[in-house]
Amino acid sequence: MPNSRVRLLDLMRQTEDPRVINLAAGIPSPDFLPLDALKTALEQEVASQARAMFSYHRPEGAAPLREAICDYLGQRGIPAKPEEVLVTVGCSGALASVIGTVLRKGDTVVCEAPAYYGLLELLGDAGVKFRPVPTAVGQEPDPKRWEKAIRATPRPKLVVVTSSLSNPSGATLPEEWRPKLVEICRKARVPILEDDIYGDLLGQGRPKPLRAFDDGKTVLLATSFSKTVAPGLRIGFSLPGAWMEAAADRQCRQSIHGAVPPEYLTAAFLRSGRLRGHLEMLKTVYGKRRELALGILRRGLPEGIRADDPKGGYMLWVRGGRAGMIDEVRKKCLEQGVAVVGGGIFFTSTPKEACFRLNCARATVEDLARGMETFCEVVTAAANRSGGRKGRT
Ligand SMILES: Cc1ncc(COP(=O)(O)O)c(C=O)c1O
Repeated sequence: MPNSRVRLLDLMRQTEDPRVINLAAGIPSPDFLPLDALKTALEQEVASQARAMFSYHRPEGAAPLREAICDYLGQRGIPAKPEEVLVTVGCSGALASVIGTVLRKGDTVVCEAPAYYGLLELLGDAGVKFRPVPTAVGQEPDPKRWEKAIRATPRPKLVVVTSSLSNPSGATLPEEWRPKLVEICRKARVPILEDDIYGDLLGQGRPKPLRAFDDGKTVLLATSFSKTVAPGLRIGFSLPGAWMEAAADRQCRQSIHGAVPPEYLTAAFLRSGRLRGHLEMLKTVYGKRRELALGILRRGLPEGIRADDPKGGYMLWVRGGRAGMIDEVRKKCLEQGVAVVGGGIFFTSTPKEACFRLNCARATVEDLARGMETFCEVVTAAANRSGGRKGRT
């Protein structure tokens, strides 16, 4: 992988630096956490479930949480049973357990380009070969493009896709393509690892997850409540289908199980029915922030460099211009107190054009505006140095 010197670890550490306007790490803001509902749920659970909460429990996850997850999935078109759910430490844990269970060194994996950096790290550690399928907002790969990648030799062992608001591109697979992609993979006998971590943040209704078009034999779902409820809970889960036993066994050897109190707390929060209202609030706030940031980017970016509108979530993907300026822009922004992510880390080979991921959720509104303006100035100066012209996108 290029840029292997930048680690997820470095990106996460950078988020703690109070001197920078942080548009870099893909993390939500603590300002929008459902704190009251979480506190109430915690108090109730400690009062009534303390013995169970502070003991070892079944390695696959606490029963009340696995039941609440099934209700959650049912509302998204997925009829799952508690025994099919493996509770994990975040979506990262779900991705890691599926990757570790399904893949062997040297296997080929079809993945998006760009793709979530943490996923590329996990796949890189597993020693797989990448077969990237380019994606972008409005240029999502149609079923034929997936089919070409899946039918190519050597036959891939896994397709990995963040089906809604992919990180960092913001791409969402249209719902009408989803059953077709599932069918292609089913026929080719290649499982899909679907990451649905951002699906609930889509502005106007979310397409059903790929898993809703499957009987559980082809699509392995991985997700978490990190982007929608609270990342500090570290509650994620997978539906590993036929790999359930192997994935549970693997996870049990590594950690026996995750921390139990957040499992009970998350179960109580889900049962409280507060998720729906909370998601509406998040969608409204993020929508306003995206609008503010996109307005600044549209006015301030030089010709040929554009910001995609993902229509949901809190991350923006800016692309265009000379790929060589990625590092220069990132460093110059940081010198001016603004952290952005250079997009190269989301690719398995050097990207064809410059690209950056910007987080709209974490900074205050004032800092967000200032950070976006600084970013535009730095990009414009870099593009001018390489012969670009200033203008609207
Ligand atoms: C696409 C994607 N999957 C997984 C994760 C990791 O999620 P978690 O914090 O639940 O481990 C992230 C975090 O940014 C992500 O963007």
